[in-house]
Amino acid sequence: MRLDDAQNDAHRPPLVLGGSNFVFVSLFCYSSVFDLFQAYAVKCACRICYSYHITSLLVLGAENHQMGLLSLITGRPGASGFGSASTAEQVTDGVDASNLTVIITGGPSGIGLETSRVFALRGANVIIAARNTEAASEAKKSITEANPTARVDVLKLDLSSLKSVRAFAEQFNSMNLPLNILINNAGVMFCPFQLSEDGVEMQFATNHLGHFLLTNLLLDNMKATAESTGIEGRIVNLSSIAHEHTYPKGIQFDKLNDKKTFDRRSAYGQSKLANILHAKELSRRLKEEGANITVNSLHPGVIMTNLMRHSYAVMKAIQLATCLIWKNVPQGAATTCYVGLSHELKGVTGKYFADCNEEKTSELAKSDILAKQLWEFSEELVKSAHQI
Ligand SMILES: NC(=O)c1ccc[n+]([C@@H]2O[C@H](COP(=O)([O-])OP(=O)(O)OC[C@H]3O[C@@H](n4cnc5c(N)ncnc54)[C@H](OP(=O)(O)O)[C@@H]3O)[C@@H](O)[C@H]2O)c1
Repeated sequence: MRLDDAQNDAHRPPLVLGGSNFVFVSLFCYSSVFDLFQAYAVKCACRICYSYHITSLLVLGAENHQMGLLSLITGRPGASGFGSASTAEQVTDGVDASNLTVIITGGPSGIGLETSRVFALRGANVIIAARNTEAASEAKKSITEANPTARVDVLKLDLSSLKSVRAFAEQFNSMNLPLNILINNAGVMFCPFQLSEDGVEMQFATNHLGHFLLTNLLLDNMKATAESTGIEGRIVNLSSIAHEHTYPKGIQFDKLNDKKTFDRRSAYGQSKLANILHAKELSRRLKEEGANITVNSLHPGVIMTNLMRHSYAVMKAIQLATCLIWKNVPQGAATTCYVGLSHELKGVTGKYFADCNEEKTSELAKSDILAKQLWEFSEELVKSAHQI
């Protein structure tokens, strides 16, 4: 079973079956035991969360939420009128995106697929940027079958290869299309130590560096589009609450590719911290230039997707114990669609969102110095990789 098949189960009431007394009694016993087990599991999880890194990533992080753990569980809306239970369709209800072109990286699956579907539903011209073009064509087929007027195209992009990023940008820029919105969504999580073809640790290379170069290469097009149309451009970086669980200094500039100190969870947190710092520094630069483009980052929630492929069993166990804080995919894509399309966020830039509301970040993610340092470091990395 693909993880995608299981992803719509979260936030849904349990299935109740009818049948003979025997079946009913069996089911009743089973569900009582299951309920008891769940209650016990939640209790245990709450205890464990104070000592275990991975559960604290899910639950302790939630405690830091401005909206609070209770809002996360109940779906109670925040100041925006939306909350953790809002879906991508709900938060874009009434939005006309027919004059917008959007690039969505990692559009073939999970949050990216739902984001692509809902942007297309609102009329946007959607470009799915994917390393697996076969899967992306399947995604396009599923979107256009359900919505025959949807405008969806697929372009090849492997974010772990700077050469591929350059080729993608060249191809897109030669198509003479405008570009209003860039959703930097693609990502990998917890993969074992591996260097990209450019010699950069894989999670940093894919989640941050590829998007850093991609954004820079598309920026002239976005600026020109914003200027000629008068429509605000938007860049949205998918980060994560996991940005709070990085290496002690945040970004290991001097040990980025050091296998000895590598820890796959901290490396993921590092790359997600980089997504926030990248958005923050780019937002500052664009503001200084007076460009009509906003840049924000977000945590989508915790959703069972293919992202969990390197830690599926652990994540499934955690999901069982902490089921109340998990979202389904339509809920998981809501914050991206809200930040990308909401009129309420006109002019809002350099911020971090979760559950469709502005959210606090870690102290490291607030650092202007770290953001600037990461920018310069990334520029150097891109330059040196170019010379390889
Ligand atoms: N799910 C969660 O609980 C959660 C929580 C916090 C943050 N996020 C963030 O949300 C984003 C979307 O994740 P998801 O949950 O929707 O996961 P997903 O279903 O695995 O989607 C990730 C997408 O990124 C693509 N991708 C991976 N490496 C790539 C590369 N080198 N070049 C181009 N595309 C690449 C994947 O393509 P392939 O199919 O070819 O691998 C896939 O289409 C990620 O940035 C993730 O960090 C997710």
